Amino acid sequence: MHKSLYNWYNINKRDLPWRNTKDPFKIWLSEIILQQTRVEQGLPYYIKFTQNFNNINEFANANLNDILKLWQGLGYYSRARNMHYTAQFIRDNLNGVFPNSYSELIILKGIGPYTAAAIASFSNNEKKAVVDGNVFRVLARLTGTYTDTNSNSGKNEFSKIAQDFLLENNAAIHNQAMMELGALICKPLNPDCYNCPLQNNCFAFENNEQKNLPIKIKKVKNKTRLFNYFIFEYNNTTYITQRGPNDIWEGLFEFPLLENILFENENEVFNYLIEKKIFDKKAKLNIKFITKYKHILTHQTLNASFWKITCSLKPKLAANYIEVPISEIKKYAVPRLLEKLITNDKLQHQIF
Ligand code: ADE
Repeated sequence: MHKSLYNWYNINKRDLPWRNTKDPFKIWLSEIILQQTRVEQGLPYYIKFTQNFNNINEFANANLNDILKLWQGLGYYSRARNMHYTAQFIRDNLNGVFPNSYSELIILKGIGPYTAAAIASFSNNEKKAVVDGNVFRVLARLTGTYTDTNSNSGKNEFSKIAQDFLLENNAAIHNQAMMELGALICKPLNPDCYNCPLQNNCFAFENNEQKNLPIKIKKVKNKTRLFNYFIFEYNNTTYITQRGPNDIWEGLFEFPLLENILFENENEVFNYLIEKKIFDKKAKLNIKFITKYKHILTHQTLNASFWKITCSLKPKLAANYIEVPISEIKKYAVPRLLEKLITNDKLQHQIF
């Protein structure tokens, strides 16, 4: 397997400038750039950076603004700032010599396990397997490993598989070949299995499982939302509406909701209601903050404030609001967040 992989790599590899150097500084530049963008877009940045800075000391002595300017377009500027910090650290603490061993690299700011393995193996042939998205894909398909590559246990398992697959003395070529195979043959969609040097040994090819591997379970980001509920009371009636699709709580009823505004006090609520022409200036309003609840759903946290607004005029609300006697609110299906409020014994007198 290894022989045919390296053979394939020798014939098919792209001629990329960072592959023609053993200089850890240049390899570091290339790897940080390639974490931000694809090879074709990264190339001109690599060329610009290496033309401007020959070595780590020139980079360290540069003005941060000039580095940010060269970085422009790559996004995620903290990477460029970390690079400048690390370059100065190397200049000031390591005699300006860029380390090339995994254990010295991994302690530097902005260098994680992937980058440390890449620099140590490419510059120094250290026997450290790199595991990036390409390598996850190749190994999951090759070995039929269905562990989630986004999970910590999956990352550990794939690191071990990758390390076991790496033989002595050829880490630089091996790691490049694995990444190149992932980039050119073992692509996410429509892998080119008929030209793959590992076809005969591949679990996914044999079982037609290319589409199902690797397993990547997306983590849904938890978002925080700021809610204000207005419990109007006009002639013993209040106003509710039924929630629509494409958000939480479809079909449940709720009081008028205002999202994304943080009111510091009742006065700010008053000004808002007048400004939005929910009442005209003649209205007599008695606004009271009732309470605040933090309500946790599977993928969101709601910070909800409740305001009771007793009013002398009818509020001008959108047509989808219905009037209900305030005492009958308990007959409607409401989200648990509102249920918690309207069944709270201590707050009854403030709401009803
Ligand atoms: N992506 C990240 N590092 C790479 C490298 N050294 N060669 C090609 N693609 C890469």
